[in-house]
Amino acid sequence: MPLNIAVIGTNYLGAAHAAGMAEFGHRVIGVDIDPRRVEVLNAGRSTIFERDLEPMLARHTASGRLRFTTDYTQIADWADVHFVCVGTPAGPDGSADLAQVTAVADTLAPLLTRPTLLAGKSTVPVGTAVWLQERMRALAPAGDGVEVMWNPEFLREAYAVQDTLHPDRIVLGVQSGRALTTMRHVYAIPISEDVPVIECDLATAELIKTAANAFLAMKISFVNAMAQMCEVAGGDVVKLADALGHDKRIGREFLNAGLGFGGGCLPKDIRALAQRADQLGVSELTHLIEAVEDINQAQRREVASLAVSTLGGDVAGKRVAVLGAAFKPGTDDIRNSPALEVATSLADQGALVRVYDPQATVDREGIEQCASIVEALDGADLVLHLTEWQEFRQLDPAALDGVVRQKVLIDGRLKLHRPTWQRAGWKVIQLGRASTW
Ligand code: UGA
Repeated sequence: MPLNIAVIGTNYLGAAHAAGMAEFGHRVIGVDIDPRRVEVLNAGRSTIFERDLEPMLARHTASGRLRFTTDYTQIADWADVHFVCVGTPAGPDGSADLAQVTAVADTLAPLLTRPTLLAGKSTVPVGTAVWLQERMRALAPAGDGVEVMWNPEFLREAYAVQDTLHPDRIVLGVQSGRALTTMRHVYAIPISEDVPVIECDLATAELIKTAANAFLAMKISFVNAMAQMCEVAGGDVVKLADALGHDKRIGREFLNAGLGFGGGCLPKDIRALAQRADQLGVSELTHLIEAVEDINQAQRREVASLAVSTLGGDVAGKRVAVLGAAFKPGTDDIRNSPALEVATSLADQGALVRVYDPQATVDREGIEQCASIVEALDGADLVLHLTEWQEFRQLDPAALDGVVRQKVLIDGRLKLHRPTWQRAGWKVIQLGRASTW
């Protein structure tokens, strides 16, 4: 039996979730305050570059099972479950800014006259669900009939559809059997496919999400710290990561050394967790996260200074080609992009920086965006590989003869096939692979 599902906030997470809910057979209305986004989504188009999302949006908007609106009255007493998918950006001190969550509560609650379930998907500081329920019950005509549960989201950009339809696990932070039954109904399809379900309290559900992102960030910073060790001691971090990865308790994923993590989630979420831990007196966790952040920032500085030293200590007037601008491949998202931070740092020091990215648009002073790899590389004194798009891995370095001025490459993602580039006469520098330069 399909349910009536409202999805509030239809940017990345919300758009994928709304389309996914329709794919699971439910009737879905997405709500957003941005009329332009609503218009685009209602036309079955995506507002972001995300593989597979647009066909799913198109299919379900065409069938009538999915539509979008700016009007909360259309969902208030209609929905069996209201999913909250709005953003929780970093506030001035790094803690999560809950203004959008508050706005949803204050707009929706006064319209709720019958009992309903509000399911939070946004990444929030622990304690938010309880606070939200109190606020909504005070404002809603339905009063205590409004119940809040937490159902955190783990989808990755570039894999949003796959992660929505086939999640690794479903976390249901609930206060009642009624909420649990409803949510098991919502996710009947993935549950029938044996996706593990973790039933827990609200605080645990909120913490699971931030813990997952913090752990991933910690893995990356750990391998990057080992890359620094390899650098000074003469080791090879790729071989080290491969060897660690064979240990099933460790696993190879998220052990790719290089420029480190960026994006709209990991950096912001771990900062917010550090702040919350500090507020609650768990200073050990705050210190751990600070160390993870420090290592991550150091990688960006290290690659930028390696570029400077490779160019003889002064980049002013030198041509630097940068391959990649998105924070990772498969997305056009440049939020907190390590690649762009390095590019910007070199441009600020006077380098003539030209960037090529297959999807991301760069609008930064001092950085010229190019329409092709060859255009970016034309006359370059140095090439930086900073986002590991497939297109770059498939490059034939022999075909670049006569394009660049100097055949020098810094592979900030350790993903290019070094012997192939070396055979074509390139000097290849990969952080953490000192032994095999
Ligand atoms: C991350 C999490 O992976 C998702 O599970 C989570 O749902 C999401 O945040 C969120 O909170 O919304 P995402 O931001 O799409 O997803 O990015 P990741 O795939 O985690 O990559 C983050 C960064 O780490 C990228 O800059 C990537 O280049 C970098 N990275 C990743 C490494 O430097 N090394 C690795 O081995 C893996």
